[in-house]
Amino acid sequence: MNVYDSQRIAGILQSLGYQETTSQAEGDIVIFNTCHIREKAAEKVFSDLGRALLIKNERKEQGKDTIIGVCGCVVQAEDEQIAKRAPFVDFATGPLTYHRLPEILERIARKKNISIIDTDFPAESKFDYLPENHSLGACSYLAIQEGCNNFCTYCVVPYTRGVEYSRPIEEILKEAKRLIQSGSLELNLLGQNVNSYHGEDKFGKERNLAYLLHCLAELDGLKRLRYTTSYPADMTDDLIACHKDIPQLMPYLHLPIQSGSDTILKAMNRRHSKSDYLRIIDKLKQANPQIGMSSDFIVGFPGETDKDFQETLEVVNHVKYIQAFSFKYSKRPGTPAALMSNQIEEKVKKERLEILQTLLFEYQDKFNRSCVGKTMPVLFENKGRHTGQLIGRTPYMQNLHASLDKENLNKIINIKVTEATTNSLSGEAI
Ligand code: 5AD
Ligand code: SF4
Repeated sequence: MNVYDSQRIAGILQSLGYQETTSQAEGDIVIFNTCHIREKAAEKVFSDLGRALLIKNERKEQGKDTIIGVCGCVVQAEDEQIAKRAPFVDFATGPLTYHRLPEILERIARKKNISIIDTDFPAESKFDYLPENHSLGACSYLAIQEGCNNFCTYCVVPYTRGVEYSRPIEEILKEAKRLIQSGSLELNLLGQNVNSYHGEDKFGKERNLAYLLHCLAELDGLKRLRYTTSYPADMTDDLIACHKDIPQLMPYLHLPIQSGSDTILKAMNRRHSKSDYLRIIDKLKQANPQIGMSSDFIVGFPGETDKDFQETLEVVNHVKYIQAFSFKYSKRPGTPAALMSNQIEEKVKKERLEILQTLLFEYQDKFNRSCVGKTMPVLFENKGRHTGQLIGRTPYMQNLHASLDKENLNKIINIKVTEATTNSLSGEAI
């Protein structure tokens, strides 16, 4: 979602006549789009801002002004700290208000040395105010939903991105058509809780994600569809059936479980048990036996015992994820879990994360190696490090390197996989 927001922010600046630079020292405006999900990400902002100030001062000696801005969730959660720890920041605006950037920049231009912090949860939708976007490559993100009403006890998202909002169907279809016309072959629909999507159609009737996917699948020229991130309790049967009925829907789903222990899931305020989750996966595999699963995991949530952790490992052994993201629990200010008294020692969190990641990598490695000899359609998105090499994505989101000339960029090509490592594949065009 932050990548999508950054692209839209760049779009606003382009519509005002700005151009992207390759180095920070050339930038008349430098914007940091920030993440508050874990402490490490949030702290990084302040060290990056410190470095930006040095560049701003050097530019000042050369007679050049620099505007430094901060966007994203850190602003929503830590506006006072930004004002205190980085008073040189010219403006800061949250993830729901960056459409006001033209107005903010105008105010800065008119009245030098004012600092603007905007952490409003506006009544209007930013999507109504953003300039039209076009595809930047063959794979595009398309935000269809934002915010979250789930309030998992560890998570800041409901406080930083606000309550759930679903964009209307027609608006999404318009953006999708524009992206396809400008070169997108793949759309990745985004939302913090994307499968609880419930936008209105043109008659004002509420429609769900399954309906939207069917509408998108009708669009000429769209070859691939994905959606992320889903909440297990919102995996409805009609959405699961899409994995059987919509050929463009890729056979890969990111469905975070977070923990395999029912006690911990309850303490996390997740609305699913381990068996609910496994039942959904069984149904998905029935709908499409080729589907590969991915998940997020948190280790060391307050109160997590060795037995609880073992249950997480059991889920991994059962599902055999083809990819996953795992994190040590990080205390977030203002969330209920941060106040729980049974916090886990850092040393234990570290040990558990190592054990979990070793196991997850084993399955990822096994899956990647099982692809050798198979032929897959690969969408080539980027040039590789070596000349004559391109990097693409398989239907399973694996990176694949192949020796191909650049005419093949932004195309889908059938590739026979010849080699595999834990993190990527290599192959040849057939
Ligand atoms: N600590 C660790 N991981 C977290 N996540 C969200 N909040 C926290 C936290 N406080 C993880 C979850 C989520 C992913 C985006 O980040 O696994 O699915
Ligand atoms: Fe955070 Fe996801 Fe839970 Fe919402 S569903 S509170 S975004 S972890």
